[in-house]
Amino acid sequence: TRPLIIDTDPGIDDAAAITMLVDEPSFDIRLIASVSGNVGIGHTTNNALKLLTFLGRRIPVARGAAAPLMRDNRFATEAHGKSGMGSFVFPEPDTSLLTENNAVLEERRVLLESDEPVTILTLGPLTNIALLLATFPEVKDHIDRIVMMGGSTGRGNIGVYGEFNISVDPEAAKMVFRSGLPVTMVGLDIGRKAHLVAGDLDDLDASGEVGGMVASLFRSYDGGHIEEGIKMYDPSAAMVLLQPDLFTMRQAFVDVEISSPLTLGATVVDYDGILGGKANASVCVDVDVDGFRSAFVDRVGRVQRQ
Ligand code: BDR
Ligand code: CA
Repeated sequence: TRPLIIDTDPGIDDAAAITMLVDEPSFDIRLIASVSGNVGIGHTTNNALKLLTFLGRRIPVARGAAAPLMRDNRFATEAHGKSGMGSFVFPEPDTSLLTENNAVLEERRVLLESDEPVTILTLGPLTNIALLLATFPEVKDHIDRIVMMGGSTGRGNIGVYGEFNISVDPEAAKMVFRSGLPVTMVGLDIGRKAHLVAGDLDDLDASGEVGGMVASLFRSYDGGHIEEGIKMYDPSAAMVLLQPDLFTMRQAFVDVEISSPLTLGATVVDYDGILGGKANASVCVDVDVDGFRSAFVDRVGRVQRQ
């Protein structure tokens, strides 16, 4: 069992990704850290607690950064709803799961206490991770790799070339790519390709309460515009941990644009060494869509409330 930290801004697809991992025998989720992103920090923290309370899993939740390093918050309520989790009615959150210390201190604690290197899965802006690495660089020796939903090898969603998680806090993302840690980048293009169709939601509904919760969240995702397919951004990053064979990876030097107003937050993915940088990332360039869909529905459908 490999130790895992999930740093996240739930978020509908974040909730789906976390659900995929809670029963996975090959990973032990030691901490869920919230970060401001899709909605404000109060909501993302509360949403993580609500999801875990619904699932009945006692995983500690640490509240993280309330804003990006240098910029104002930008939320994605049009995709995730005002509270960040659509209209599904969750039970009242069990606040005893909330840690006393904030996310950076809790991430440091988990990393230093672990006997083996810890994997970090990031599903939101990279503010906590940048603060962690800058404040406690000694933790780097305890990190196996960072698997990140973020960036794009092509077009963006919040900018023409800017993806949300990176563009909201581009300086933080730049720090992470420059940290020297191995980064696995699962970008927007992969989440767009790995999409569910309406029939998959019906299958999730039929699987039981947990599948029904995820289907209900996705029905309200993106303002309910699901006819073109339901984009699986954060679940793709989670699936890279679980079934890497479904993905094609390519080594690259990746850097983040932080100054141009036209391309702010763009991930510049250099496969050919044009910029002279050493490869710092394993970039996901393709996904087996049908394999992904059936694995997703199957995995989420098997999770039971406890
Ligand atoms: C990313 O932005 C968020 O809205 C999603 O949860 C995902 O992490 C996609 O750009
Ligand atoms: Ca997210």
